Amino acid sequence: MRVGFVGLGAMGSVIVPRLLAAGYPVTGWNRTEHKARRLLEAGMAWAPSPRAVAEGSDVVFSIVTDAQAVREVALGPQGIVHGLAPGGVYVDMSTIDPDASREVAREFARKGFVMLDAPISGAPPTVEQGKAFIMVGGDRESYQRVYPLLSAIGSKVMHVGANGAACAMKLAINLLLMVEVIAFGEAVALAEKQTTALPVRVTFACPLLEDEQASDDEVTLEVTPPEDVDPDPERENAFVGELARGEVWRFDVRSEPYEADWSVRLEPKVEVLSA
Ligand SMILES: NC(=O)c1ccc[n+]([C@@H]2O[C@H](COP(=O)([O-])OP(=O)(O)OC[C@H]3O[C@@H](n4cnc5c(N)ncnc54)[C@H](OP(=O)(O)O)[C@@H]3O)[C@@H](O)[C@H]2O)c1
Repeated sequence: MRVGFVGLGAMGSVIVPRLLAAGYPVTGWNRTEHKARRLLEAGMAWAPSPRAVAEGSDVVFSIVTDAQAVREVALGPQGIVHGLAPGGVYVDMSTIDPDASREVAREFARKGFVMLDAPISGAPPTVEQGKAFIMVGGDRESYQRVYPLLSAIGSKVMHVGANGAACAMKLAINLLLMVEVIAFGEAVALAEKQTTALPVRVTFACPLLEDEQASDDEVTLEVTPPEDVDPDPERENAFVGELARGEVWRFDVRSEPYEADWSVRLEPKVEVLSA
């Protein structure tokens, strides 16, 4: 079976070697030609347009950025649809909106061709290790025809329904991954908070204030804590907050009356409330 491949970016450039290694002849095209150099050295043939790729292939794959790129390589003036021979199958592996994929599939059907959506789950290293998961939407018979090619690309290949169903499935998987990523971030933040911040109480004791004579003179302390440090409701001149590792708290401390002819000796006491 002659294989065509359109889109040799991060994904295409690791998928093509798997097809070559499985013994399929591959003809490729990429908008930016120089990115194909390594694949050409590895045995891939070059065609000057997606249409030319299709003219020499029984099955044509594409994996490009988004729906607009898929429309261009599939339906544009030099698109795959203009080069396929009767019986040819187009397999798009891009992750795109299911409706956009269905629209392209309808255009192919109008011209008597089958398009399958076959998005792939797995980053480039996963593909290189042969562990990617490919879900497929569209005509089941054509799926069976291209199954050997898909099995050469990934370890798990599954037909999930009509056109667009695989794109929808892929988006559902991505959605779950995002939830996992967000939950992971929250978990790390929580763990870091536990290990790097300690609940601390700082109490300002002033022996002078305990001296009856001075108290009679109505000497008071005015302590302004840093941001995020609150007065301890249970103690006078005491403050509580979470002290992060490496953080320094600077308290602004003044005595009242300011013009007294004595100096105030402060003895701040720091307690860790719990580990
Ligand atoms: N990377 C991943 O981990 C991963 C995993 C699963 C699925 N996917 C999906 O796979 C698809 C491709 O991803 P990628 O990582 O391979 O992206 P990439 O490295 O950015 O490559 C994108 C490819 O699309 C081509 N392209 C973009 N716009 C085009 C246009 N208007 N006409 C023709 N070609 C165009 C680029 O050509 P140029 O080289 O000329 O720019 C390049 O070959 C995306 O749908 C992505 O969501 C990616």
